[in-house]
Amino acid sequence: MQKVAAMHERENPYYKKNFIEIAQVESMGMLEYLFQLADRFKEMYEAHDPRLGEVLKTFCIAIMFYQPSTRTYGSFSIAAKLLGAHTVEVQDMNSYSSTTKGEKLPDSAMTAAQAWLAHLIVQRHPEDKSSHIIADKLTQMGNETLVVNAGSGKLEHPTQALLDAYTIFNRLGKFDNLNVVMVGDMKFGRTVKSLATLLATVGTGNRITFIAPKGLEMPPEFIASLNEKVEIVQTDSLENLGAADVVYWTRLQKEWYEEHKLMELYDQIKDNFILTPEIAAQFSENTVIMHPLPRVNEIDERVDTDPRAVYLTEQMRSGPFIRMALLAAMLRENPFLVLQNLSSDE
Ligand code: NCD
Repeated sequence: MQKVAAMHERENPYYKKNFIEIAQVESMGMLEYLFQLADRFKEMYEAHDPRLGEVLKTFCIAIMFYQPSTRTYGSFSIAAKLLGAHTVEVQDMNSYSSTTKGEKLPDSAMTAAQAWLAHLIVQRHPEDKSSHIIADKLTQMGNETLVVNAGSGKLEHPTQALLDAYTIFNRLGKFDNLNVVMVGDMKFGRTVKSLATLLATVGTGNRITFIAPKGLEMPPEFIASLNEKVEIVQTDSLENLGAADVVYWTRLQKEWYEEHKLMELYDQIKDNFILTPEIAAQFSENTVIMHPLPRVNEIDERVDTDPRAVYLTEQMRSGPFIRMALLAAMLRENPFLVLQNLSSDE
């Protein structure tokens, strides 16, 4: 209870703000605000504490996805429900909404705000600016409905970065002075960009090595956007991974290749960047092995039971708790005080 007492005196930096870009998290203190809240919600969930369901009672949350998802969609859904919010959820907006009749994104967002009474919209969409587009429309039309970006285009997946940071912090006890290696499709992958931005913005002394096949490197404009506090290395070699604190593997984002005429490259490289037990043998004892999932074939299943691998366990399980923290922080002025008041109601 000590921690909660201190936290409820802090100003909530997320209250009544959209959450669209990871760069909005500007300090370790902002990150810790969510970590502490996530820890509290996790404890309450594990204890089957019914007061958890009071936190967002009477709030309405819309979840609208225009791209496939298993983890992000389901973890937002369960996060909202565990906190007691009402939800309207459309997992495939492209098939089951007026999008099929030609309705545009801003009108669908207005529908969530007006017809579904949403206080907050969680949206995933293939366009980079999609969250900004709906947030602008909602504001222009006088709505207070908030927007959470659950993955947009090729640049942003801010809640994935939060859960990745929470996983790293829980394993290593820090988010600074880390040697992080990211492997895979840097050109189209959005999880790596959001996590790299967070490491550069809030951490000090972090070093990131981007390992990508030739042709799928991190875009130079993205590298230029990173703060000079972070040290960046770029390579296509899987050697010298021994010093990594975190190894973050990703898949080739095949869905974009057709359009960018990269199918030939895909066939050439699809079997080259595979994490095998032999490669993992280079890592140190405390290296955290991560992957945002879905995995196709880029991590050998024999790595799954390696005690350093967290992608099928802790990393995924961080999702609902950190998302509960974010939803509560956006919708309640002082979520720590809410929890304290709920505890004193006994
Ligand atoms: C990722 C995504 O959608 O960007 N998935 C996720 O949310 N964990 C990663 C991916 O599709 O490769």
